[in-house]
Amino acid sequence: MGHVLVQDIVAVLNTITGGRVVTDQVQRFNGSNPFVTLKTSHIPGKEVMELPGLVYGDPAMPVHKVAVVMTLTESAVELAASSKVDALIVHHPVADAASSGGVPLKDYLSHYNLAIFELHEAFHGLHPGIALLHGHEPIFTDTAFGGTIGNVVIVGRPLDGIITLSHILSRLEVLMAQSQDLRLLEAERQIYNSTELREINALETGVVVHGNPENKVGLILHCFPHTGFSLENLNDILAMYPAIGTVVASISKVRNQHPLLAACREKGLNLINGNSHALEIWENGLPLAYAIQTLLPAVEVVVFRERVTSYPLAAAGARELRRYAREMASNYLLGTETSRMNTVERINVMEAEFDE
Ligand SMILES: [Fe+2]
Ligand SMILES: [Fe+2]
Repeated sequence: MGHVLVQDIVAVLNTITGGRVVTDQVQRFNGSNPFVTLKTSHIPGKEVMELPGLVYGDPAMPVHKVAVVMTLTESAVELAASSKVDALIVHHPVADAASSGGVPLKDYLSHYNLAIFELHEAFHGLHPGIALLHGHEPIFTDTAFGGTIGNVVIVGRPLDGIITLSHILSRLEVLMAQSQDLRLLEAERQIYNSTELREINALETGVVVHGNPENKVGLILHCFPHTGFSLENLNDILAMYPAIGTVVASISKVRNQHPLLAACREKGLNLINGNSHALEIWENGLPLAYAIQTLLPAVEVVVFRERVTSYPLAAAGARELRRYAREMASNYLLGTETSRMNTVERINVMEAEFDE
């Protein structure tokens, strides 16, 4: 494989997005690019500005290997450095320190000579893949429904062969291949000798939340509840498309007390929870990776997928490491009440508590 320059990647991302990428410094701040957008919960100091395009790196730096990533973390930075990746193209917005192990991005990235690009809202809506994976073809797409940037709403017609709700679930089963992740989790449980391990890719599959799996699908409303989709939005879209029979929620799910569940019951709409956010690397990351590989055949493109596993304390780390952790907790982290006991006694008590 050969190489390209960082600036070639900027150009390619601009081609893929039809010109949505920030290409000069001025554009970052003058409001002319609608995809330069502030994400804020109004918690002081915690907002982040999306800057589609190059976030950090020398435009003239050669790049041999590119990784497509959903979310930048210290693990992704370390994996990049250890696998000779020069540039990371990250979907979710990158934030100083939050994305780089608590230290300024610049310190960490310059240490490993890494360039970072981001492409989030500027990538949404470019392809109909998430709808197609869930068994429908969009006839209406809005990435800022009701005026809220990122509130993606799709109305779709079921694909040939997608007649009942169960057809959507079978399609997801085949395409997302979560059975592989279940096998991986089973192996992990055996290796760590605990049946209590949980892993997000394996455990969150598509499910029918309301309606009979044999119900006819009808027209599909596909929404993403975490992006701000409201009941008002639901009523508005139902007024536009009264033939909607099924609501598909994906990326984030509709859980227990969510008002959308009650609304679907009341209106007699089927409700399906589709893919979780953990699978967006396949939904959005993989198409982006193929586009980049096609436009830049000289570089090697890889995909970083995140697996997050939950361990009960009694199975986390090796036996000796758990002993170390108890000693640290007991000797340094716990208050005066426990310090009245001697060290050996305290550790014995903790071991008894955690090892049963
Ligand atoms: Fe996304
Ligand atoms: Fe996302």
